[in-house]
Amino acid sequence: MRVGLLTGGGDCPGLNAVIRAVVRKGIEAHGWETVGFRNGWLGPIEGLVKPIGLDDVEDILTRGGTILGSSRTNPYKVDGGVDRIKATLAEHGVDALVAIGGEDTLGVAKRLTDDGVGVVGVPKTIDNDLGATDYTFGFDTAVHIATEAIDRLRTTAESHHRALVIEVMGRHAGWIALHSGLAGGANVILVPERHFNVDQVVEWVERRFEREYAPIIVVAEGALPEGGEEKLLTGEKDAFGHVRLGGIGNWLADEIAHRTGKESRAVVLGHTQRGGTPTAYDRVLATRFGLHAVDAVQDGDFGVMVALRGTDIVRVKLAEATAELKTVPLERYQEAEAFFG
Ligand code: F6P
Repeated sequence: MRVGLLTGGGDCPGLNAVIRAVVRKGIEAHGWETVGFRNGWLGPIEGLVKPIGLDDVEDILTRGGTILGSSRTNPYKVDGGVDRIKATLAEHGVDALVAIGGEDTLGVAKRLTDDGVGVVGVPKTIDNDLGATDYTFGFDTAVHIATEAIDRLRTTAESHHRALVIEVMGRHAGWIALHSGLAGGANVILVPERHFNVDQVVEWVERRFEREYAPIIVVAEGALPEGGEEKLLTGEKDAFGHVRLGGIGNWLADEIAHRTGKESRAVVLGHTQRGGTPTAYDRVLATRFGLHAVDAVQDGDFGVMVALRGTDIVRVKLAEATAELKTVPLERYQEAEAFFG
C-alpha cells in the first residue's frame, strides 16, 4: 500500500512526531511505501510529492514545525482543486491519505472522503479547540511556553511596580489563557468566550496594586471588552485577507495605565507559542495519534479522525470532529475567578 501524508493549517509542536510514527509503523509493521505532500492541500493539488522513508524521520521527533511544510490552501476554493488532487493520487499510485491538521484541514478531509478519497485525520492545534478529542498535541507545549513567560514577566513587573498584560494565542477559545493563567497564578484571565468588563478588570488590578503586588493579566488574543469595542479588532486585514489580531493586549495595558495612573506593559507572545520542541506529553500524544492513524488506514476505516478520550485513543467520524469548536465552559472559567484580584 502507498500512503500519503500532509500537514495543513498553522504549524504546531508535535507534527513531526506524528509523521515519524506513521512512517515508522507503516513501513516496519505493514511494508507500506510512504510519500509526503508539501504544504498542506497545495501538495496534492500541485503534485508536490516525494517519498518519505525511515531515514527522513530519524531525527525529527524532537523538532518543532513540520518537515512537510504547511499552508491554509482549501482545494474546494481552488478551481478544479479536488479533481487535481484525485489526478495526483492516481498518478503516484497513492491509496490513502493521512491528513494532520485543525478544523479547516479536517473539514476538507471529510469532504474529500465523501468525494471518494480515502482519508484518515489526525487532530492538531495549540488552541485545543477541536471538539471530539479531549486534547490536541501542541496545546501542552504552548501552555508550557506561556507559563514560563508569565513566571519571567512577574519578576520584572514586581521590580518596577507595573501591571503586566500577557497576550496569548486563542482566536476563538481561551484554553491557553485559562491554563497558563492558572499555572502562572494570574490575577485576571480574559477569554474570547466571555466579553469582559473593563471597570471590573481595573478594580482587580487596583486591588493588587494596593497590596503592593504587580498585577498579572493574561488575555487571549480573541478576548473582547463589553460594549462597542469590537471595532478594535475587526476589519483590519493583512495582505492575505486574514483578520489581524494581536491588538487587545496593548489596548488593555493602555487602558489600565490611563485609569490607574500606574505603569503598564503588554507582551504579545505570538508565534513563540507555536515554535520549538514539543513537551514530552505532546510527543507521546502525537506519537500515539500517528500509530492509531496507521491502524485506521490499515483497516480501511476512512472518514475518521483519531482522538483522545480519557487516556484512550479512539476513532471518531470526521463529521463529528468538525461539527463544533470546543470552547471554555463557564464552570471552568469560574474556577479561575477564585484567584482574580
Ligand atoms: O493555530 C491557531 C492559531 O494558533 C491561533 O490561535 C492564531 O490566531 C492563529 O493560529 C495565527 O496563525 P497564523 O499567524 O499562522 O495565521
